[in-house]
Amino acid sequence: MNLYIVLEGIDGSGKTTQANALREYFTSKERKVFVFHEPTYTKAGLIIKEMINKNSRDKYSPETISLAFALDRMMYKDEVLEKIIKSNRYDLIIGDRSFYSSIVYQSLQGVDVEWLKLLNNYVIKPDIVFVLEISIEEQMKRRGESNIIYEKREFQEKLIEEYKKLKEYFPNDEIHYINGEKAIDDITKEIAHTIEDKLKGD
Ligand SMILES: Nc1ncnc2c1ncn2[C@@H]1O[C@H](COP(=O)(O)OP(=O)(O)OP(=O)(O)O)[C@@H](O)[C@H]1O
Ligand SMILES: [Mg+2]
Repeated sequence: MNLYIVLEGIDGSGKTTQANALREYFTSKERKVFVFHEPTYTKAGLIIKEMINKNSRDKYSPETISLAFALDRMMYKDEVLEKIIKSNRYDLIIGDRSFYSSIVYQSLQGVDVEWLKLLNNYVIKPDIVFVLEISIEEQMKRRGESNIIYEKREFQEKLIEEYKKLKEYFPNDEIHYINGEKAIDDITKEIAHTIEDKLKGD
């Protein structure tokens, strides 16, 4: 048995920091950990990086970007993730973003939520989702120059609200909201505690 968890939250909320910290934490406890980031390195992932680059702004519609994200996810599933999960070589698989990001970001850009859900119908669902929550002020403090879209304050504020709705969109999914403004170590411990409970339950 293994556990597939994903880290979610607005830009700068600490997802990558926690993915790395959790990898260290569980590796030190003799657990095998696999971490991946979305968009991934599939051919579709490379297209996404091009699409959301500042220079391509407004060139592609949110629907087109939604398709690219879904394709990257499906390609990564076929090329990597499904094998990783089935092989049982890892105890813990950590995704830095997932289809929940698509739901939150693209629905705010006007894409129909039901269509987004359908588009992502065949992706591998994580066992647990951790949403790191930070305020807009904390994000401003943390962020430096950014070359990607989604940077406007107003949009970021809407994202914070949209993330809160994930539980309504997916009432059956295990979604934990975590205060992302606490010390990095404390957040890692809090997430690790929930994961350890599940791993022990195997
Ligand atoms: N709990 C924390 N307290 C203070 N600073 C933090 C905390 N977690 C992360 N940071 C800092 O905030 C910045 C953004 O963190 P990180 O890159 O992990 O966010 P992210 O969610 O991966 O962002 P993105 O969506 O842009 O990839 C980094 O400089 C990181 O060191
Ligand atoms: Mg990151």
